Amino acid sequence: MKVTIAGIGYVGLVTGVCLAEIGHEITCVDTDHKKISDLNKGESPIYEPGITELIKHNLAKGAIRFTTNSKQAYSFAEIIFISVGTPESDDGSANLQYIKEAAEEIGQSIRKNVIVVTKSTVPVGTNEKIKKWIENKITGRLKVSIVSNPEFLREGSAIYDTFNGDRIIIGAEDELSANIIGDLYKPFDLPIIKTDIRSAEMIKYASNAFLATKISFINEIANICEKVGANIEDVAQGIGKDSRIGSQFLSAGIGYGGSCFPKDTKALVQIAGDVHHRFELLESVIKVNNVQRNRLVHKAKEVLGPLAGKKAAILGLSFKPNTDDIREAASISMIEQLLAEKAEVFAFDPVVNGKIKALFPENIKLCTSIDEAITKADLCFIATEWNEIKEYPLVKFKDLMKEPFIFDGRNCFQLMEAEKFNLNYYSIGREPVIAKYSN
Ligand code: UDX
Repeated sequence: MKVTIAGIGYVGLVTGVCLAEIGHEITCVDTDHKKISDLNKGESPIYEPGITELIKHNLAKGAIRFTTNSKQAYSFAEIIFISVGTPESDDGSANLQYIKEAAEEIGQSIRKNVIVVTKSTVPVGTNEKIKKWIENKITGRLKVSIVSNPEFLREGSAIYDTFNGDRIIIGAEDELSANIIGDLYKPFDLPIIKTDIRSAEMIKYASNAFLATKISFINEIANICEKVGANIEDVAQGIGKDSRIGSQFLSAGIGYGGSCFPKDTKALVQIAGDVHHRFELLESVIKVNNVQRNRLVHKAKEVLGPLAGKKAAILGLSFKPNTDDIREAASISMIEQLLAEKAEVFAFDPVVNGKIKALFPENIKLCTSIDEAITKADLCFIATEWNEIKEYPLVKFKDLMKEPFIFDGRNCFQLMEAEKFNLNYYSIGREPVIAKYSN
């Protein structure tokens, strides 16, 4: 089928290359000229395992093209996906400005009947507005059918998730459109749930809110574990074995970040508020997450006293491994806190570089290796569980740091290992390991 994708961010690009891979004819549209010209050279604007290969492969076979000429791309499409951003407004609600602009341009440009599929995360009822925005701009007797098709892919495993997702949600206003979009996805061979548009919109928010709730819940249990001398890893394993609970999203840490959970939880609180329902449970989830981000620096102050003048290494800057995305990353709040404490910050991440430099242009030192970041450091924080960090030999903390004080926000190491190398090792929801003798 001939598909045009509006907005080549994370979701749009991954959707485009994966649909091209299964045999559709894809045109990707974005207003960013540099991004489009890089993509036409086979260069991905995002760091995502496997994406460059898929872009190059589908460019070579002529299955995908990238353009800024949106009018032309919309005019010949049978299906148009909207995957532009819905950033957070000041009041926490989703900002629909880019969606509206795309919808109006679609209305002005189409030359035949079209199905418009919304992939962007939008508040319940938005797809009805999208239809109106498009129809208001249509001249002639063209029919637009709207489908809500929320996206569940995770950064860092987006390609895998697209081919192996748990379900595809299709919320449509008529059966024919639902069946056409179902056929589009058929080669993926994944379970398809067909529903009405408003329910599909709600499924996306409810899914993200539930996962965020799981994380804040396990983080609170971890905080209690620390106080009562229990071990969160064993507790999570024990409760996760109950299939009603499930073992995923029970990793305690320094809270959730990224482009979705923080934004979508706040938006759902707002959506509920708009219909005079106070979503107190979700408000607490958000509050717990904000406190959790600051726990590690607090802990370091409790253990070491004032951090002024101390050399602090911070390992892992992205909001999670296998991505260069630092949106709402715990590392950012930690760096801010450390700078406020007047500590010297030495940061390392396997892929994040320029983005963090742009946020802290002068006052942190970006290192090119873990060795460089921790050498002669007074303390070390771990904010992201990259493999390179998890596999780093613990003995080197002992050898390179002044005295090894490690504050691990992602439970990267076994307590026994930390004991073996005589480290001071503080993690989440587990008893601290205190060095037995001075190194
Ligand atoms: C999430 C959803 O998983 C995905 O379905 C949706 O489409 C977009 O939002 P993503 O933000 O890419 O995906 O990352 P995810 O793997 O879900 O992790 C989000 C955050 O939660 C990360 O900061 C991660 O470190 C944290 N997390 C995740 C935990 O702290 N503990 C866990 O057990 C799982």
